[in-house]
Amino acid sequence: MLDLNGKSILITGGTGSLGKALTKTIFEKWPNVKRLVIYSRDEQKQYVMDQEYPHSKFPAIRFFVGDIRDKERLTRALNDIEYVIHAAAMKHVHIAEYNPDECVKTNIGGAMNVIDACLATNVKSVVALSTDKACAPINLYGATKLASDKLFVAANNIKGNNPIKFSVVRYGNVMGSNGSVIPFFIKKKKEGKGIIPITEPSMTRFNIPIQGGVDMVLYALEHAWGGEIFIPKIPSYRILELAEAIAPECEHKVVGIRPGEKIHEEMITSSDSSHTYDLGTYYTILPQRPVWKLDDYITHFNAKKVPDGFSYNSGENNQWETPETLREKIKEHVDPNFSVK
Ligand SMILES: NC(=O)c1ccc[n+]([C@@H]2O[C@H](COP(=O)([O-])OP(=O)(O)OC[C@H]3O[C@@H](n4cnc5c(N)ncnc54)[C@H](OP(=O)(O)O)[C@@H]3O)[C@@H](O)[C@H]2O)c1
Repeated sequence: MLDLNGKSILITGGTGSLGKALTKTIFEKWPNVKRLVIYSRDEQKQYVMDQEYPHSKFPAIRFFVGDIRDKERLTRALNDIEYVIHAAAMKHVHIAEYNPDECVKTNIGGAMNVIDACLATNVKSVVALSTDKACAPINLYGATKLASDKLFVAANNIKGNNPIKFSVVRYGNVMGSNGSVIPFFIKKKKEGKGIIPITEPSMTRFNIPIQGGVDMVLYALEHAWGGEIFIPKIPSYRILELAEAIAPECEHKVVGIRPGEKIHEEMITSSDSSHTYDLGTYYTILPQRPVWKLDDYITHFNAKKVPDGFSYNSGENNQWETPETLREKIKEHVDPNFSVK
């Protein structure tokens, strides 16, 4: 059972949506955590978060201004840290397309720095955040995150006798995250023009609340043997049903798919199926050359190999949201005041 009381943790990108949700959960579950370091660049976001976690009530929290591109600073911040969650990234598809070198420096160079700094210190377990866009990527953001995933998986091969474990958690669009479709539809409804723009009527998406991402990170911290890419089993929704859930009174205007967008989100391709296992709540894509015995892993987790050719994408899911379940979840996870009226 994971117990972070008395432990030291660092979250890169700790002021972001995953970082903040994780911080809240850590303090709720383990109030006696020894040190929780928030590592990110913008002092203003840290200032705002500092107001939420005053030192008098949360003496364990530390705010480190730093860039993941700066290995020296990162190594210093990792002094005496045992657990690392690597969430810092550039994540907007069109911004990455326009500024590819910046995205490469942060998402790939930053990942390399996190790995090197963790290997040089006494970190025990590192969980890096991935995205559905890293699966068969068609845009630069996805390609950089795929490179990052590969770096974290392969880091287990260069650790020697160091007991550190590197693993990856991959999920799709988080419900209500900045720039995502749910807040966009709610905004369009509130504008009162009676029109909801639909990129492509057959589009589907996976649906995960931010707490689902937090739970996966904590699962990986506790259970990873090193080199896994963990993927949640979550429901999908059809974009037309989301529009129905939020704004049934509005007409639809089809505006066409945006550059770098897929009709269905993918998390596991059929090419991954040869080394993908079903763990019950999660799938795990295992490294093709693990540093541990595959038979031991299968026995320990009662892991079931997925059928050859299996792929996991939002268009072929066996769990589906309905307009009613979507409304309930929007109220619970995005906007408590949401009403379809
Ligand atoms: N949100 C989603 O829908 C979603 C879905 C799937 C996967 N993910 C992945 O989950 C992770 C977390 O996403 P999120 O939604 O929490 O992102 P977010 O809200 O945009 O937060 C990003 C965090 O990273 C920090 N950051 C960015 N560049 C940095 C750098 N060079 N050095 C240090 N810190 C840096 C940001 O703070 P500063 O700007 O102040 O540095 C911020 O704290 C990302 O790896 C993302 O790819 C997100």
